[in-house]
Amino acid sequence: MQVRFKLNDEVVEVEVADDERALDLLRRLGMKGVKEGCGEGECGACTIIVNGKNVASCLMLAPELDGTEVWTIEGLSKNGQLDPVQKAFVEAGAIQCGFCTPGMVMSAKALLMKNPRPTEEEIKKGMEGNLCRCTGYFKIIEAVKKAAGER
Ligand code: FES
Ligand code: FES
Repeated sequence: MQVRFKLNDEVVEVEVADDERALDLLRRLGMKGVKEGCGEGECGACTIIVNGKNVASCLMLAPELDGTEVWTIEGLSKNGQLDPVQKAFVEAGAIQCGFCTPGMVMSAKALLMKNPRPTEEEIKKGMEGNLCRCTGYFKIIEAVKKAAGER
């Protein structure tokens, strides 16, 4: 089937298979920042923003993207300027590996879109779907606080 949606502020029309995952479609469209970790909705590496909400793209089917507004990590920086959330991650030393970081940034972005001044508890809750078993979360939480403070 043909789907039409907005991807990082540009309209995309593309043919998809009924059983294609949103994750695979986005990577096929060149969005290689959308990573596959677990493939089961557990790790958050594949997180994208769909209609303002963070979503595990490994659990979503490509046809479900029809008519939505989608953001991936590729769409956050503008004119060579990092998004404030990306900047805060860099400044707080919260950039971890290339697998978990894009998903962490997208969840942080989605959280701040709906709640510009989250409490620490709300940050922890907003980021709970993004796992890193090697480094930890302290600097990530600091980065989200920093991004919230600078808005
Ligand atoms: S790859 Fe989607 S949640 Fe892990
Ligand atoms: S999974 Fe990326 S640093 Fe742990």
